[in-house]
Formats: sequence, structure tokens, C-alpha cells
Amino acid sequence: MLTDQQILRIPGPTPIPPVVQRAMNKPMIGHRSEETSALLKGVRPRLQKVFGVSEEVAIIASSGTGGMETAFVNAVHPEEEVLVAVTGAFGDRFSQICEAHGAKTHRLDIEWGHAVTAKEITDYVQSHPEIRAIFITQCETSTGVLNPIQEIAQAVRSISDALIIIDGVSSIGGTPIEMDHWGVDIVVTGSQKAFMLPAGLAFVACNKRAWERIETNKRPTFYFDLKKYRQNIEKNTTPFTPASSLLYGLEETLVLFDREGLENIYKRHQLMMKMVRAAMKALQLPLLANDEHASPTVTAVHPTQFKAADFRKVLQQEFNLIVAGGQQHLANEIFRIGHMGYCSPADVLQTISAIEIGLQKMGQDIQLGSGTAAAQQVYLEEGINK
Ligand SMILES: Cc1ncc(COP(=O)(O)O)c(C=O)c1O
Repeated sequence: MLTDQQILRIPGPTPIPPVVQRAMNKPMIGHRSEETSALLKGVRPRLQKVFGVSEEVAIIASSGTGGMETAFVNAVHPEEEVLVAVTGAFGDRFSQICEAHGAKTHRLDIEWGHAVTAKEITDYVQSHPEIRAIFITQCETSTGVLNPIQEIAQAVRSISDALIIIDGVSSIGGTPIEMDHWGVDIVVTGSQKAFMLPAGLAFVACNKRAWERIETNKRPTFYFDLKKYRQNIEKNTTPFTPASSLLYGLEETLVLFDREGLENIYKRHQLMMKMVRAAMKALQLPLLANDEHASPTVTAVHPTQFKAADFRKVLQQEFNLIVAGGQQHLANEIFRIGHMGYCSPADVLQTISAIEIGLQKMGQDIQLGSGTAAAQQVYLEEGINK
């Protein structure tokens, strides 16, 4: 086996395009230099486009969780009550952040593998009108569910002025978000997923409504104070030393986004999702999420005939193919295939075909090629060059 060739099919960190990798190898520059300002000036409008927002997007040197905490400390005033839709491990994380800061936190727990519905949210908010912010995960990475954010935002807007705060860590760049159009107030994402970068940057986008709340918030915060990020980015600089190498990479990622076009990127993710799901169905492997709420960036598979954890070991041993395990109570029960960012339909075919061999090695009675054929069929019917 080629020990340095790892096939990374986890839902982040994801593989990095060579052009992005090369950009990150550039020599260090002064963080208060004209080069850094030019870099920031170039990425600002492109980032806004990804989020569909007319306000500036904060770029913070932090992992995605730092972005989640940033959203909380800036948007939620002391004494305010919040609602967190917990559809899996990352909704749970949002609720832990709210609780850690002492907010009265209402949890709306949804069975893992299911999406939260607009009705469940609006029913809860109607019976608790004191709720001032609603936290929802767009793609629940732990289950492969895509929550219907546009629908939820539309429903909430008609009954409440609570802020809608979205964790888009594993979805932004792989599936649409239109903050201004949908009425979503804050969206957070991180660099190591569909942005095709290493971990280390968090992006926090706020709309006008969110800024109004942020500007009057007395909750103390320092490093994560979004007002500082906004004042600085408007002048093409950052409040603290930026992660310059990651910014170089980001510049290239955003060029790649422009070149492929966001619409085409979303279509590619949809296609890869459909290919993976068709293959798993053909191989009789149960999927955790249903078709309606399936994520275009990650698919969770729940085998019943063998332990997912054992299967992952086989894939690693045979091919150095890395798929993710489950989290919390699903730790050894499911495996998750990441298909986001620098990932193509051809990569998906490779993964599925390796999975088929893995299944045989596990002693499963499957028809070799049946999963691959199902994915190929999807590709031929819906492929990129149709
Ligand atoms: C949906 C979601 N939210 C938050 C996070 C946490 O991000 P990080 O590990 O970068 O702090 C992740 C990471 O996998 C995620 O998938």
C-alpha cells in the first residue's frame, strides 16, 4: 500500500486542492502590510457572495466552534433566553455553549437521523415568546441530516423576532445559503470542510438585524468581539494577527468557487449525495437520514449486519480509505462518508468500489459492482455534463 496516499473521505477536514496548498506555502508577509490588505480586500466581496449577505463577513483565526461561541457572545444579551434545536452532536454543542455562558437554554431534542421541522420550531417559540435567539445546525454532521433552514426562517419570521443563528460549518460552500433572501440572521462556518482549507479559520456572517442586537449587547467578550472584526475588515485589516497562510489559501478557494460557480458547486454536491445514497441502497446498507432531509456533504450509514467500527478498520487496512465513525451513542454504530469540498463524482466512484471490496472482506454476501453501477447510473442520468 502507498502509505503516504490517504483517501480522506471524512466530513472534514477534507482534501485540499493543489493550487490552494501551493498558495499556503508562500513566504510569510507582514500582517499590517499592503499585501495583507490587498488579500483581505479581494476576499471580502467573494465571501459575502457565498453567504448571500450584504454585510461584511468576519474572518476569525479559530476553529468552527470558536465561530459558534462568537455568534452566541455577540448576539445574545445577558438574561435572554435561547432555543437550540438539537438534531445531533453539533446541536448539542451549541446548547453546551449557551449553557456554559449561563443562558437559559431551551433544548428541542429531535431523534438523531431526523430533521427539525419549521412547525416544531414555531410551536415551541409560540409557547415560549421570551425566546430571543434560535440556534440550528444546517447540516448535522453527526447524522448526515440537512435541516430545512429556508423553510424554518420563513416560518419563524412570521411569528417572532428571535434571531436565527445557523451553524453552517459542514454545509456552507456545499449547499445554498441566502442570508438576506431567507431572513437568516447569523451564519457560522469553518475552513476545513467545503472551503477546502485546513482548519483554523472561522467565518461569521451577520445581517443588519443581527448587527442591531450586537451593537447594544453588554455581554463581555474580547477576542470574539464582532464589532472589532467589522471595524477592521472595513479597513482591509484584522483586529489580531491573521492566519496569513490560510488567507492565501482562502483567496484561491474563492477563485475556485468563482470559476466553477456556486450553482455548479451545489449541483456537484447534490450529485455526489445521490450517487452515494443510490450505492448504499443497492448494497442493502441502511441510511440514517431519509432522502428528503439528506445532506449533500455527508452521508451516514447504519449497517445492521456488522459493526461500523470494524468496517472502517477494514477500509483503512485495505486502501488507506478513511471514513468517519459516529458520535456519542452512535460512535460504533454508523460510518459517515464525507463528500464535500475537493471531492468529485470520480472520487465517489472510487470510494464506493472500495466499500464493496470492504463488504466482501467483512463476509457480506453482496454483488460486487452493484453499488458502483447504481452510482454510475445516477451519474449518467444526472451528471455534471448533461
Ligand atoms: C456542524 C458542525 N458544527 C461545528 C463543528 C465544530 O467545528 P470545529 O471542529 O472546527 O471546531 C463541526 C465540526 O465537525 C461541525 O461539523
